[in-house]
Amino acid sequence: MTSPVIELKNASKDFEQGGRAIPALAPTGLNVANHEFVALVGPSGCGKSTVLNMVAGLFPPSGGQVLYEGELVADLNRRVGYMTQKDTLLPWRTTAANIAAPLELACRAMPRSERDDRVARMIELVGLKGFENHYPGELSGGMRKRAALARMLVYDPDTLLMDEPFGALDAQLKLVMHEELQRIVGDGRKTVLFVTHDLGEAIALADRVVVFTSRPGRVKKVREIELERPRNVYRVRFETAFGDLHEELWNELKDEVRKGTDA
Ligand SMILES: Nc1ncnc2c1ncn2[C@@H]1O[C@H](COP(=O)(O)OP(=O)(O)OP(=O)(O)O)[C@@H](O)[C@H]1O
Ligand SMILES: [Mg+2]
Repeated sequence: MTSPVIELKNASKDFEQGGRAIPALAPTGLNVANHEFVALVGPSGCGKSTVLNMVAGLFPPSGGQVLYEGELVADLNRRVGYMTQKDTLLPWRTTAANIAAPLELACRAMPRSERDDRVARMIELVGLKGFENHYPGELSGGMRKRAALARMLVYDPDTLLMDEPFGALDAQLKLVMHEELQRIVGDGRKTVLFVTHDLGEAIALADRVVVFTSRPGRVKKVREIELERPRNVYRVRFETAFGDLHEELWNELKDEVRKGTDA
Protein backbone atom coordinates (compact mmCIF):
# COMPACT_ATOMS: atom_id res chain seq x y z
CA MET A 1 0.00 0.00 0.00
CA THR A 2 1.35 3.45 -0.84
CA SER A 3 1.58 5.93 2.02
CA PRO A 4 -1.15 8.55 2.36
CA VAL A 5 -0.70 12.01 0.89
CA ILE A 6 -2.08 13.66 4.02
CA GLU A 7 -1.71 12.07 7.42
CA LEU A 8 -2.66 13.34 10.86
CA LYS A 9 -1.15 11.23 13.62
CA ASN A 10 -2.83 12.08 16.91
CA ALA A 11 -2.64 15.71 15.83
CA SER A 12 -4.24 18.12 18.29
CA LYS A 13 -4.46 21.88 18.58
CA ASP A 14 -4.91 24.21 21.54
CA PHE A 15 -5.23 27.95 21.14
CA GLU A 16 -4.17 30.45 23.78
CA GLN A 17 -6.89 32.77 24.89
CA GLY A 18 -6.46 35.11 27.82
CA GLY A 19 -3.63 32.97 29.18
CA ARG A 20 -5.71 29.79 28.96
CA ALA A 21 -5.25 26.96 26.49
CA ILE A 22 -8.52 26.34 24.66
CA PRO A 23 -8.60 22.91 22.98
CA ALA A 24 -9.83 23.29 19.40
CA LEU A 25 -8.92 19.83 18.10
CA ALA A 26 -8.57 16.69 20.24
CA PRO A 27 -5.88 14.16 19.19
CA THR A 28 -7.02 13.16 15.74
CA GLY A 29 -6.00 10.52 13.24
CA LEU A 30 -6.88 11.09 9.62
CA ASN A 31 -5.50 9.83 6.30
CA VAL A 32 -6.14 11.00 2.79
CA ALA A 33 -4.84 8.68 0.08
CA ASN A 34 -3.42 9.76 -3.24
CA HIS A 35 -6.24 10.97 -5.52
CA GLU A 36 -8.85 10.46 -2.86
CA PHE A 37 -11.62 12.99 -2.17
CA VAL A 38 -12.33 13.25 1.55
CA ALA A 39 -15.02 15.54 2.97
CA LEU A 40 -14.97 16.76 6.58
CA VAL A 41 -18.27 17.64 8.22
CA GLY A 42 -18.89 18.72 11.78
CA PRO A 43 -20.45 21.48 13.86
CA SER A 44 -19.17 25.03 13.79
CA GLY A 45 -15.99 25.50 15.83
CA CYS A 46 -15.02 21.81 15.92
CA GLY A 47 -11.63 22.39 14.29
CA LYS A 48 -12.22 21.71 10.58
CA SER A 49 -10.45 24.85 9.36
CA THR A 50 -7.75 24.18 11.95
CA VAL A 51 -7.06 20.81 10.27
CA LEU A 52 -6.69 22.45 6.85
CA ASN A 53 -4.52 25.24 8.27
CA MET A 54 -2.14 22.66 9.73
CA VAL A 55 -1.97 20.67 6.48
CA ALA A 56 -1.20 23.94 4.68
CA GLY A 57 1.56 24.55 7.22
CA LEU A 58 0.16 27.82 8.56
CA PHE A 59 0.80 26.62 12.11
CA PRO A 60 1.99 23.37 13.70
CA PRO A 61 -0.16 21.05 15.83
CA SER A 62 0.14 21.37 19.62
CA GLY A 63 0.53 17.60 19.89
CA GLY A 64 1.03 14.74 17.44
CA GLN A 65 2.10 15.13 13.84
CA VAL A 66 0.84 16.37 10.51
CA LEU A 67 2.55 14.72 7.52
CA TYR A 68 2.43 15.42 3.82
CA GLU A 69 3.69 12.63 1.58
CA GLY A 70 5.33 11.07 4.61
CA GLU A 71 7.20 14.21 5.68
CA LEU A 72 6.44 16.50 8.60
CA VAL A 73 4.75 19.71 7.54
CA ALA A 74 7.19 22.14 9.10
CA ASP A 75 6.70 25.21 6.99
CA LEU A 76 4.29 26.65 4.44
CA ASN A 77 3.20 23.65 2.36
CA ARG A 78 3.64 24.75 -1.24
CA ARG A 79 2.47 21.41 -2.60
CA VAL A 80 -1.16 22.18 -1.83
CA GLY A 81 -3.64 24.66 -3.23
CA TYR A 82 -5.73 26.19 -0.46
CA MET A 83 -9.10 27.83 -0.87
CA THR A 84 -9.55 29.32 2.57
CA GLN A 85 -12.89 29.85 4.30
CA LYS A 86 -12.36 33.57 4.30
CA ASP A 87 -12.22 35.29 0.97
CA THR A 88 -8.62 36.38 0.53
CA LEU A 89 -8.76 38.09 -2.86
CA LEU A 90 -6.58 41.17 -2.98
CA PRO A 91 -8.94 44.16 -3.24
CA TRP A 92 -6.46 46.28 -5.23
CA ARG A 93 -6.03 43.67 -7.95
CA THR A 94 -8.46 42.89 -10.76
CA THR A 95 -9.99 39.42 -11.05
CA ALA A 96 -7.43 38.39 -13.67
CA ALA A 97 -4.53 39.77 -11.61
CA ASN A 98 -5.77 37.96 -8.52
CA ILE A 99 -5.95 34.67 -10.40
CA ALA A 100 -2.45 35.26 -11.80
CA ALA A 101 -0.94 35.89 -8.34
CA PRO A 102 0.13 32.29 -7.52
CA LEU A 103 1.82 31.97 -10.91
CA GLU A 104 3.73 35.20 -10.33
CA LEU A 105 4.89 33.92 -6.96
CA ALA A 106 5.64 30.29 -7.72
CA CYS A 107 6.41 30.15 -11.44
CA ARG A 108 8.56 33.22 -11.99
CA ALA A 109 10.16 31.68 -15.06
CA MET A 110 6.84 31.17 -16.82
CA PRO A 111 6.59 33.40 -19.90
CA ARG A 112 4.01 36.17 -19.63
CA SER A 113 2.05 34.79 -22.60
CA GLU A 114 1.66 31.37 -20.98
CA ARG A 115 0.60 32.94 -17.72
CA ASP A 116 -2.02 35.03 -19.49
CA ASP A 117 -3.26 31.95 -21.38
CA ARG A 118 -3.64 29.95 -18.19
CA VAL A 119 -5.47 32.77 -16.43
CA ALA A 120 -7.81 33.20 -19.40
CA ARG A 121 -8.58 29.45 -19.39
CA MET A 122 -9.34 29.54 -15.67
CA ILE A 123 -11.61 32.56 -16.05
CA GLU A 124 -13.51 30.71 -18.74
CA LEU A 125 -13.65 27.53 -16.63
CA VAL A 126 -15.29 29.22 -13.66
CA GLY A 127 -17.59 31.36 -15.78
CA LEU A 128 -16.10 34.77 -15.08
CA LYS A 129 -15.55 35.82 -18.67
CA GLY A 130 -16.26 39.52 -19.01
CA PHE A 131 -15.25 40.20 -15.41
CA GLU A 132 -11.47 39.93 -15.85
CA ASN A 133 -10.95 43.60 -15.19
CA HIS A 134 -13.38 43.95 -12.31
CA TYR A 135 -12.06 44.40 -8.79
CA PRO A 136 -13.24 42.02 -6.01
CA GLY A 137 -15.42 44.81 -4.58
CA GLU A 138 -17.34 44.83 -7.86
CA LEU A 139 -18.10 41.09 -7.81
CA SER A 140 -20.94 39.24 -6.10
CA GLY A 141 -20.16 36.82 -3.27
CA GLY A 142 -20.54 33.86 -5.60
CA MET A 143 -18.30 35.43 -8.20
CA ARG A 144 -15.61 36.05 -5.62
CA LYS A 145 -15.77 32.38 -4.64
CA ARG A 146 -15.34 31.41 -8.28
CA ALA A 147 -12.37 33.76 -8.63
CA ALA A 148 -10.81 32.14 -5.55
CA LEU A 149 -11.43 28.70 -7.06
CA ALA A 150 -9.71 29.77 -10.28
CA ARG A 151 -6.79 31.18 -8.32
CA MET A 152 -6.33 27.87 -6.52
CA LEU A 153 -6.52 25.82 -9.72
CA VAL A 154 -4.31 28.00 -11.94
CA TYR A 155 -1.21 26.63 -10.27
CA ASP A 156 -2.41 23.06 -10.93
CA PRO A 157 -1.47 21.71 -7.49
CA ASP A 158 -1.78 17.94 -6.90
CA THR A 159 -3.68 18.45 -3.67
CA LEU A 160 -6.57 20.81 -3.01
CA LEU A 161 -7.63 22.01 0.41
CA MET A 162 -11.08 23.54 0.18
CA ASP A 163 -12.84 25.16 3.13
CA GLU A 164 -16.56 25.58 2.50
CA PRO A 165 -15.80 26.75 -1.02
CA PHE A 166 -19.42 26.92 -2.14
CA GLY A 167 -21.08 27.78 1.16
CA ALA A 168 -22.18 31.24 0.02
CA LEU A 169 -23.60 30.14 -3.32
CA ASP A 170 -27.27 29.60 -4.10
CA ALA A 171 -28.43 26.01 -4.50
CA GLN A 172 -28.44 26.04 -8.32
CA LEU A 173 -25.01 27.60 -8.71
CA LYS A 174 -23.70 25.16 -6.13
CA LEU A 175 -24.75 22.24 -8.33
CA VAL A 176 -23.08 23.82 -11.35
CA MET A 177 -19.88 24.26 -9.31
CA HIS A 178 -20.07 20.64 -8.17
CA GLU A 179 -20.20 19.53 -11.75
CA GLU A 180 -17.25 21.76 -12.61
CA LEU A 181 -15.25 20.54 -9.65
CA GLN A 182 -15.95 16.93 -10.52
CA ARG A 183 -14.79 17.55 -14.03
CA ILE A 184 -11.60 19.15 -12.75
CA VAL A 185 -10.72 16.65 -10.03
CA GLY A 186 -12.64 13.70 -11.44
CA ASP A 187 -11.13 10.43 -12.60
CA GLY A 188 -8.79 10.56 -9.63
CA ARG A 189 -6.53 13.30 -10.87
CA LYS A 190 -6.31 15.26 -7.62
CA THR A 191 -6.25 14.63 -3.92
CA VAL A 192 -8.89 16.71 -2.15
CA LEU A 193 -9.63 17.53 1.47
CA PHE A 194 -12.92 19.39 1.45
CA VAL A 195 -14.73 21.00 4.41
CA THR A 196 -18.46 21.61 4.23
CA HIS A 197 -21.56 22.07 6.35
CA ASP A 198 -23.65 20.61 3.56
CA LEU A 199 -23.99 16.87 4.06
CA GLY A 200 -25.55 16.39 0.62
CA GLU A 201 -22.59 18.13 -0.98
CA ALA A 202 -20.18 15.92 0.98
CA ILE A 203 -21.92 12.71 -0.11
CA ALA A 204 -22.31 13.77 -3.74
CA LEU A 205 -18.62 14.63 -4.13
CA ALA A 206 -16.55 12.50 -1.77
CA ASP A 207 -15.04 9.02 -1.66
CA ARG A 208 -15.15 9.19 2.13
CA VAL A 209 -17.00 11.44 4.56
CA VAL A 210 -15.48 12.08 7.99
CA VAL A 211 -17.84 13.31 10.73
CA PHE A 212 -16.25 15.32 13.54
CA THR A 213 -17.62 15.71 17.05
CA SER A 214 -18.32 19.13 18.56
CA ARG A 215 -15.32 21.08 19.91
CA PRO A 216 -12.71 19.90 20.68
CA GLY A 217 -13.22 17.96 17.48
CA ARG A 218 -12.22 14.36 16.95
CA VAL A 219 -13.25 11.82 14.36
CA LYS A 220 -16.64 10.36 15.24
CA LYS A 221 -17.35 8.41 12.09
CA VAL A 222 -15.69 7.64 8.76
CA ARG A 223 -18.00 6.51 5.98
CA GLU A 224 -17.01 5.19 2.57
CA ILE A 225 -19.27 6.58 -0.15
CA GLU A 226 -19.70 3.70 -2.54
CA LEU A 227 -21.82 5.59 -5.07
CA GLU A 228 -20.63 4.78 -8.55
CA ARG A 229 -18.25 7.04 -10.46
CA PRO A 230 -18.44 8.97 -12.65
CA ARG A 231 -21.30 10.52 -10.71
CA ASN A 232 -23.98 12.76 -12.00
CA VAL A 233 -24.16 15.34 -9.21
CA TYR A 234 -27.81 16.10 -9.98
CA ARG A 235 -29.14 12.59 -10.37
CA VAL A 236 -27.14 10.95 -7.61
CA ARG A 237 -29.30 12.78 -5.06
CA PHE A 238 -32.34 10.80 -6.16
CA GLU A 239 -30.72 7.41 -5.63
CA THR A 240 -31.92 5.33 -2.69
CA ALA A 241 -28.34 4.78 -1.55
CA PHE A 242 -27.83 8.55 -1.38
CA GLY A 243 -30.86 8.95 0.87
CA ASP A 244 -29.69 6.11 3.09
CA LEU A 245 -26.20 7.60 3.43
CA HIS A 246 -27.65 11.00 4.18
CA GLU A 247 -29.82 9.61 6.94
CA GLU A 248 -27.00 7.53 8.42
CA LEU A 249 -24.56 10.45 8.48
CA TRP A 250 -27.14 12.96 9.67
CA ASN A 251 -27.86 10.68 12.62
CA GLU A 252 -24.16 10.92 13.55
CA LEU A 253 -23.98 14.65 12.96
CA LYS A 254 -27.17 15.99 14.47
CA ASP A 255 -26.29 15.37 18.13
CA GLU A 256 -22.93 17.06 17.62
CA VAL A 257 -24.56 20.07 16.01
CA ARG A 258 -26.97 20.31 18.98
CA LYS A 259 -24.08 20.03 21.45
CA GLY A 260 -22.27 22.72 19.46
CA THR A 261 -25.16 25.15 19.88
CA ASP A 262 -25.40 24.45 23.65
CA ALA A 263 -21.78 25.43 24.17
N1 LIG B 1 -6.09 31.58 15.41
C1 LIG B 1 -6.91 31.25 16.40
N2 LIG B 1 -6.75 31.77 17.65
C2 LIG B 1 -7.56 31.42 18.66
N3 LIG B 1 -8.58 30.54 18.55
C3 LIG B 1 -8.79 30.00 17.35
C4 LIG B 1 -7.98 30.31 16.20
N4 LIG B 1 -8.42 29.61 15.13
C5 LIG B 1 -9.46 28.89 15.58
N5 LIG B 1 -9.68 29.12 16.89
C6 LIG B 1 -10.70 28.46 17.73
O1 LIG B 1 -10.57 27.05 17.53
C7 LIG B 1 -11.83 26.43 17.42
C8 LIG B 1 -11.92 25.70 16.09
O2 LIG B 1 -11.91 26.66 15.05
P1 LIG B 1 -12.06 26.28 13.51
O3 LIG B 1 -11.98 27.55 12.75
O4 LIG B 1 -11.07 25.23 13.18
O5 LIG B 1 -13.52 25.66 13.48
P2 LIG B 1 -14.40 25.15 12.23
O6 LIG B 1 -14.75 23.73 12.51
O7 LIG B 1 -13.70 25.47 10.98
O8 LIG B 1 -15.72 26.04 12.40
P3 LIG B 1 -16.68 26.66 11.25
O9 LIG B 1 -17.50 25.52 10.76
O10 LIG B 1 -17.50 27.66 12.00
O11 LIG B 1 -15.81 27.28 10.22
C9 LIG B 1 -12.87 27.53 17.62
O12 LIG B 1 -13.27 27.52 18.97
C10 LIG B 1 -12.11 28.80 17.31
O13 LIG B 1 -12.60 29.88 18.04
MG1 LIG C 1 -14.06 26.74 9.47
